[in-house]
Amino acid sequence: MSENKPVPVAVAKVSPSAERPLREVPGKTLKVALLGCGTVGSQVARLLTEEADELAIRSGARLEVAGIAVRRLAHPRPGIDPSLLTTDAMALATRPDIDIVVEVIGGIQPTHSLLLAAMRAGKSVVTANKALLAEHGEQIHDVSHRYEADLYYEAAVAGAIPILRPLRESLAGDTVHRVMGIVNGTTNFILDRMDSSGADFSESLEEAQELGYAEPDPTADVEGFDAASKAAILAGLAFHTKVTASDVYREGITEVTAADIASAKTLGRIVKLLAICERSGASGPEAGVSVRVHPAMIPRTHPLAAVGGAYNAVFVEAKSAGQLMFYGAGAGGTPTASAVLGDIVAVARNRLAGTRGPEVSTHAGLPVRPMGDTLTRYHVSLDVADKPGVLAPVAEAFARHGVSIQAVRQTSRGEDALLVIVTHEARDADLAATVSELEALPVVRAVASVMRVEGEGDQ
Ligand code: HSE
Repeated sequence: MSENKPVPVAVAKVSPSAERPLREVPGKTLKVALLGCGTVGSQVARLLTEEADELAIRSGARLEVAGIAVRRLAHPRPGIDPSLLTTDAMALATRPDIDIVVEVIGGIQPTHSLLLAAMRAGKSVVTANKALLAEHGEQIHDVSHRYEADLYYEAAVAGAIPILRPLRESLAGDTVHRVMGIVNGTTNFILDRMDSSGADFSESLEEAQELGYAEPDPTADVEGFDAASKAAILAGLAFHTKVTASDVYREGITEVTAADIASAKTLGRIVKLLAICERSGASGPEAGVSVRVHPAMIPRTHPLAAVGGAYNAVFVEAKSAGQLMFYGAGAGGTPTASAVLGDIVAVARNRLAGTRGPEVSTHAGLPVRPMGDTLTRYHVSLDVADKPGVLAPVAEAFARHGVSIQAVRQTSRGEDALLVIVTHEARDADLAATVSELEALPVVRAVASVMRVEGEGDQ
């Protein structure tokens, strides 16, 4: 047979009547209980109604909103059938006819009790609750396992961005080394404003509040609590290890000054609040993970540097996949509802197939290393006297703690000078000890700022 001779292909003849209709809306129904009807919940309810036929075709069953738990019945809710509303969330979450419970209330209680009760009653659960998962994830996953209940929570981290399923499923065959993300839109908006306008933190926070990006009480965002919960979830999935919010080292952005931002700019860097989850030590007894949230300077050429406004992005580095970046809207009713809807369709499909999604795996059991052991770099700004003999004791303080200096930049300001020192990588504890010693040096008038430097080798 000649190499070029075409190989005959058998073509199956299908009569039109035997073909499966492409858009057959299934007759079966799965009942959904929605716990919470705020910014995200109201959009989930709207989309479940408006996209009902399409979602039914994709899921294999009609997804009927069978009840909505709210705090106040009288609150105006355009487009929501008032007969669906109840204030008894527990009764709704455990009602015998309910198949899927969707929790978009947030906070630890009553959501903790509601989700456990729902899973014990055999419901599939979808939640957007990062704080609950970061604090009680182990118990919640354990109940999901014992009661064979699906538990999906894509919306808990970075809103619309698909990042948990990629870590849990797409990268299940790879080894993740690092996850570094901008996972809080409020702080990214504030830092972006400080960078573009030169404004200080409080002015930029006020602007974020006026525009509705920041809450009237911004603590959870600006102090890094929100990002720390997300970091715990990301690290747990990336490294197959139990990580809780209390394992995460956390610093917020309230101490970031306009001078820090300006100094970063001069050095070709930008300040971002980062959630960093890293595997440390290749294997053996040294293996561990470090999980931290803090402001850091990254090169302006880093992929995360281009993430502006209230957007989120997560940069992942894996052994075989190399560097990946996930980018998009990290908050907001409709974007977050997109992630919730994706989970609802997934649990509906699983339910109809009599199966469950993949379980979370914590088999690696890696220890979470203390922040002091983490390898980082520092950018240190010092107010010093501009006179002979200043540089030597400053350099000696670094040397005494085994910290190598990468760059020094001095700007004269009359009798004083601003000395900016950027270090090579060193243990965080050694860098902190160096800074304490600098604070006590007679030639140092003040340690104006200390900020970590990240992402140098990433582009
Ligand atoms: N407050 C969060 C943010 C959104 O600013 O990104 C919800 O996690």
